[in-house]
Amino acid sequence: MNAIDRMLHTDRYARCVETSKRVRWDIERDVIRARRFDVAHKFLPDGLSLADAFTSLSADEKRFVGQIQGRTYANIFGLVERFINAKVLELSHDHWFGDQVALEALVRFSDEELKHQALFRRIDAMIGEVLPDGYRFDIDPNAVAHAVLGKSTWAVLALTLDIELFTQLHYRQSIEPDSELSELFKDVFLYHWREESQHAILDELEWVRHDAELTDEKRDQAVDEFIELVAAVDGILQAQAKADARYFATKCGRAVNDAEGRMIEAAFLEAYRWQYIHSGAQHPHFGKVLSSLITESQGQRIQAALDTLNDPMATCAAASSDD
Ligand SMILES: [Fe+2]
Ligand SMILES: [Fe+2]
Repeated sequence: MNAIDRMLHTDRYARCVETSKRVRWDIERDVIRARRFDVAHKFLPDGLSLADAFTSLSADEKRFVGQIQGRTYANIFGLVERFINAKVLELSHDHWFGDQVALEALVRFSDEELKHQALFRRIDAMIGEVLPDGYRFDIDPNAVAHAVLGKSTWAVLALTLDIELFTQLHYRQSIEPDSELSELFKDVFLYHWREESQHAILDELEWVRHDAELTDEKRDQAVDEFIELVAAVDGILQAQAKADARYFATKCGRAVNDAEGRMIEAAFLEAYRWQYIHSGAQHPHFGKVLSSLITESQGQRIQAALDTLNDPMATCAAASSDD
């Protein structure tokens, strides 16, 4: 990197530090403000919960589905932030005796992700106070983090940028404009979004910096590892779709037969794939950064892998025949 590039880079890290200081918030004082959740309100907007995909449900049942998904949304973010934070701390090592502004930006990033995990644990408990007992989220964030961090840094940063960009997209396109949402739920994601905006910039800086050190062969392996990570995310989503569909069926107050149960599970999976895989994969900036780093045939490999995640009914049927 030449001297001018180095200055431009330092300037981008410096702007992240400056914004991070300006927008910083406190969980109780700024976000919760002594409020509670109210089940009369929606938690997730229809555009994220894909309410229309739950064709057999009444309006009230769709609201319940959105509340279950809202709780899972908080839990999934808490889960992914465990590995994101560990990777950020690892990357900070490269700056220990180098650019101290970049180091400060990553330390703040890490501190924010620790706070966000605490926020999402708090939200899970608060939603638990107002929804029926029996909700399960049995995925261990540490086990997931160990598995993810076993892949190359390039692959982990690709997944991380994807996640941190779709967080912002969900807030701006779906959560912020929906006037029917719980004000508290909305605020959780407003405050989260304010700090995530810097994270996505830092992910990109770190990803591009790391990419420049890779050989073509290493990058090609990393593309495969990124595809493996997306498949692993889908495995988590399949398990949670099953758990959430079962919880809905036992708590919705009426009988749900096997055929309807399978449709509900497939609709949960379709919504979760939209939230955590396809909305990020279609994010224009993610596509732009990714395609600047990979070849056309590597891009086709990624697209082919994404195309296999389009038929939730078939996935659920295959999984239940394996049981
Ligand atoms: Fe976060
Ligand atoms: Fe983040």
